[in-house]
Amino acid sequence: AAARAATVPAAVRAALQQEHVKMKNPERALAKIAKMIEGGADELLVISDFDHTMSRAYDEKGERCWTTHGVFDNAQEMADLAKKCKDLSAHYLPIEFDGNMTIEEKIPHMEAWWRQSHDAIVEKGVQREVLEKLVLNSNIRLRDAADSLMAHLDAARVPLVMFSAGIGDIISIFLAQRLGAVPSNMHIISNMMTYDDKKVVSGFREPLIHTFNKNGKVISKEEVNFFHEMRKRDNVILMGDSMGDLHMDVGVENHSEADTLKIAFLNQKIHLLDFYTANYDVVIVDDQSMTVPRTIMDAIT
Ligand code: TMP
Repeated sequence: AAARAATVPAAVRAALQQEHVKMKNPERALAKIAKMIEGGADELLVISDFDHTMSRAYDEKGERCWTTHGVFDNAQEMADLAKKCKDLSAHYLPIEFDGNMTIEEKIPHMEAWWRQSHDAIVEKGVQREVLEKLVLNSNIRLRDAADSLMAHLDAARVPLVMFSAGIGDIISIFLAQRLGAVPSNMHIISNMMTYDDKKVVSGFREPLIHTFNKNGKVISKEEVNFFHEMRKRDNVILMGDSMGDLHMDVGVENHSEADTLKIAFLNQKIHLLDFYTANYDVVIVDDQSMTVPRTIMDAIT
């Protein structure tokens, strides 16, 4: 591993040696990157979370940025729906982060949260056009350099899987508005809406994806086929911001999770640092940019 790690370019080393970039085992992380550089763009697959990973957790003023579901919590034109979503968040968010509960104990609560929130959206009868307006006026923001990272991966024909427990339609509307179009290399695995013939949201497709089932269990047959097409790409980079993002690579065929380069963004919850570095190869602390991943991916492609 040491010999292999030595082949990593200086720019990548410098990026990883920054004060706010934490690694428990730098040599192992560098060895994974070195193997990916050898494999190049043709063997690379990137899997990323969206909310507060591809998008910012905080804006320049230190205000919390919205998640994809957050557009409903903040929908002033639909005060009843906004109140319902806010009340649900107030009840369930403490459960999501409860240090005294196991994931198994949390799962039924997360399902209940997502289902009630989705039912409320469907009941409200939200039109696609209204959704687009909500997203346009939202405080969902891309991380700095995220647009150039996505453009770079697209140009290098590296598939980018956006694996999100948020709402897939909000992600694609947001990217179309901010980038002009959803990049052609992108594959979104998320909660997708269905519409009636008047373009009113009529439901959400199954399986439901929540924070703690973002793994092989929720991927549909379509997704299995997608990962089958990707089977030659066994250099996998995973990016997330929560412990629930750790196993987003489970759907990758013939792939050992131990080979994945796992990069986390730790936003403010600094007390979790040891926990994050024990599980992620690279932990980027309070940095609202994609600069570090971009430097690594530049070296590979
Ligand atoms: P993710 O970052 O793993 O994709 O998780 C999505 C986040 O969305 C999770 O922290 C809970 C949050 N959420 C809301 O803010 N409002 C909602 O209505 C729901 C269902 C989830």
